[in-house]
Amino acid sequence: MHASTASQLTTFHSLSSLPPRESNPCSPFRYSLTSREAKKKSIPTRRISVGQRRVPPFCPSVSASSQVAPASAEASKASSIPSEMKAWLYGEYGGVDVLKFEPKVTVPEVKEDQVLVKVVAAALNPVDFKRRQGKFKATDSPLPTVPGYDVAGVVVKVGSQVKNLKVGDEVYGDINEKALEGPNQFGSLAEYTAVEEKLLAPKPKNLDFVQAAALPLAIETAYEGLERTGFSAGKSILVLNGAGGVGSLVIQLAKHVFGASRVAATSSTRKLELLKSLGSDLAIDYTKENFEELPEKFDVVYDAIGQCERAVKVVKEGGSVVALTGAVTPPGFRFVVTSNGAVLRKLNPYLESGKVKPVIDPKGPFPFSQVVEAFSYIETNRATGKVVIHPIP
Ligand SMILES: NC(=O)c1ccc[n+]([C@@H]2O[C@H](COP(=O)([O-])OP(=O)(O)OC[C@H]3O[C@@H](n4cnc5c(N)ncnc54)[C@H](OP(=O)(O)O)[C@@H]3O)[C@@H](O)[C@H]2O)c1
Repeated sequence: MHASTASQLTTFHSLSSLPPRESNPCSPFRYSLTSREAKKKSIPTRRISVGQRRVPPFCPSVSASSQVAPASAEASKASSIPSEMKAWLYGEYGGVDVLKFEPKVTVPEVKEDQVLVKVVAAALNPVDFKRRQGKFKATDSPLPTVPGYDVAGVVVKVGSQVKNLKVGDEVYGDINEKALEGPNQFGSLAEYTAVEEKLLAPKPKNLDFVQAAALPLAIETAYEGLERTGFSAGKSILVLNGAGGVGSLVIQLAKHVFGASRVAATSSTRKLELLKSLGSDLAIDYTKENFEELPEKFDVVYDAIGQCERAVKVVKEGGSVVALTGAVTPPGFRFVVTSNGAVLRKLNPYLESGKVKPVIDPKGPFPFSQVVEAFSYIETNRATGKVVIHPIP
């Protein structure tokens, strides 16, 4: 984290600085929630009331408070480890139809530097479906594959060299240190997953498992990309795809952790209010405006959609363009995220204070039985924030 970051603590624009409730269409007070819906989703949701607005705002769950989440009963549930578990897996590359529910998969052994996690919630990322489609087969682990990078759960077993985690700890993380180079054969869409201790961090105290699972790969990507551009306090940034899993966190980290002077971001019409609620000073509707025609240029452009050729046109001389996907146009550059529990530990205070919040798509969480539906949904490229899987049996 940049040295300047800590000094920004006092200048954060928290969500409490949002417009008054009546003018903020993403305020929970705008929407009604039945107790049945709330119970099913286990996160605050609301029914979108289509009223005066031609395009109703789209308000996913941006949910966290600085209060400690109630103690979970998950640790006590996880006391005995079976030899077999339920998992989703695929034995060949292809569309969603290759995904199979398998009731008897061997529970993975832990290596000396690993812990076994009882999965309480998992989340999907685009890499999960791109991998399943065979896009990374040259560097993939052998089939069959249990997919899933993101996990939140409880440690139930520790390897002989594990130093800082113990049975009963509530943790979260991205289980694959290198996203594309030999990712684990047994991922997080299972009852148990084995993970290197160094890839995990304690679950933020104020977040439940669903909220924690929504963070690791996306927030580590957001953070690593900002670091690689040399982002620091006082700089301006344009985020292309501000409403997705990564972009929603780039906006928040840039504004509330790094101290950006100005944040602009793109989305379609109904997600513009979300961008503003996350910290965007300027929300650009990509269905109506070309960001290249803006009268301003930015110190950094963070391309989370694959528009690098256009992105380089709006960066200041000497600025940086980071691209997560698609073709790269100089001076743009691409990187592939490295999972690192230390990054999560560094960011935990910002999560626990509520400065940075997970964004969870309101169509979820999807129960474990609906993993195919969850994949189909994320593959539409329309998900807002994260697609979470919960409960896991
Ligand atoms: N290199 C790496 O290490 C790395 C790491 C993580 C992710 N990635 C890649 O980065 C990309 C983004 O990941 P993600 O998890 O953030 O994806 P995501 O959450 O699935 O992104 C979905 C969002 O994309 C938005 N979107 C679609 N077309 C858009 C457009 N033309 N302009 C602006 N927004 C648009 C949608 O908003 P609307 O409905 O408003 O269109 C939707 O909210 C993926 O390709 C992923 O594979 C790479």
